[in-house]
Amino acid sequence: MADSIRQRLLQMLEEHGENYVSGQMISETLSVSRTAIWKHVSELRKNGYEVEAVQKKGYRIVSRPDMLSKEEIGLRLTTEFLGKTVHTYPSVESTQYIAHDLAHRGTPDGTIIVADEQTAGKGRLGRSWHSPRGSGIWTSIILRPKLPPQRAPQFTLIAAVSVVHAIRKQTGLEAEIKWPNDILIDGKKVVGILTELQAESDQIKSIIIGMGINVNAGSEDFPSDLNQATSLKVESGQNVNRSALLAAILNEFETLYEEYLTNGFRMIKLLWESYAVSLGRKIKARTLNGVIEGLAKGITDEGVLLLEDVQGRIHHIYSADIEIC
Ligand code: BTN
Repeated sequence: MADSIRQRLLQMLEEHGENYVSGQMISETLSVSRTAIWKHVSELRKNGYEVEAVQKKGYRIVSRPDMLSKEEIGLRLTTEFLGKTVHTYPSVESTQYIAHDLAHRGTPDGTIIVADEQTAGKGRLGRSWHSPRGSGIWTSIILRPKLPPQRAPQFTLIAAVSVVHAIRKQTGLEAEIKWPNDILIDGKKVVGILTELQAESDQIKSIIIGMGINVNAGSEDFPSDLNQATSLKVESGQNVNRSALLAAILNEFETLYEEYLTNGFRMIKLLWESYAVSLGRKIKARTLNGVIEGLAKGITDEGVLLLEDVQGRIHHIYSADIEIC
């Protein structure tokens, strides 16, 4: 209850921008006493908001913390179910572990887990994911679609398109997709997506989509073995508000997810292909069974990459590291 009043108070202050909102207006709109408003404002200040209070004028926000909080994310959400349950943590090993546990225990569809730092972030193919404090978005989304497990890879593509749309809208940067799920800017990786599954043989129980987004890291913050990585700040020259970006991703995701559930995969596939850097190019795919070189022809409806080798044979690539030649 107190949480939702604080959220609505923030929303009111946000909507009024640099203008003051009178105590009376807040009190009438939120049906709370002046004393209660004062207490909520004190809580906001403790959480890093600079709130100005001027007699006879009211309140306004002067500055807000760059924090991935429930309030800051919720403020910008336009979704029906996605991101309505949010678990935030200052530091965790991996948001994926927490998501698996919550999914087992029946957390609602659309729950998200967000951490300011991960000490054992998981990447694809058993790799680790560099997740330093305060500079990125390390999040896991839990979905419970009533679909067979074979459809799960399509969710990675929905996630990738959502992230591309949100980055383009929030920063103007031309984010692109490298199969299967890396988001690149100017050829450098800015986002990684890891999709994991809890399923029975014929039905998905939950899909856990982990996203790691390098937002405000400086170029010097990346370890030397990550020289192909970049951040939105490095590419745009500006700090990016992490909560606003995460909310934009969730808003995009829910819209595309509804489209997918209603009309199928076609639109998502077309969008994904329009952002794909590797399609039509000569690539090298490093799979568990060796390296295959050839032309990236397209993807199947299951998100499998089709690669044509020099003999004209088509290979179905399910899992690999891709190098564009
Ligand atoms: C990749 O290897 O490209 C995928 C990286 C996925 C990283 C994210 S960060 C949030 C979530 N928690 C993890 O431990 N991994 C994913």
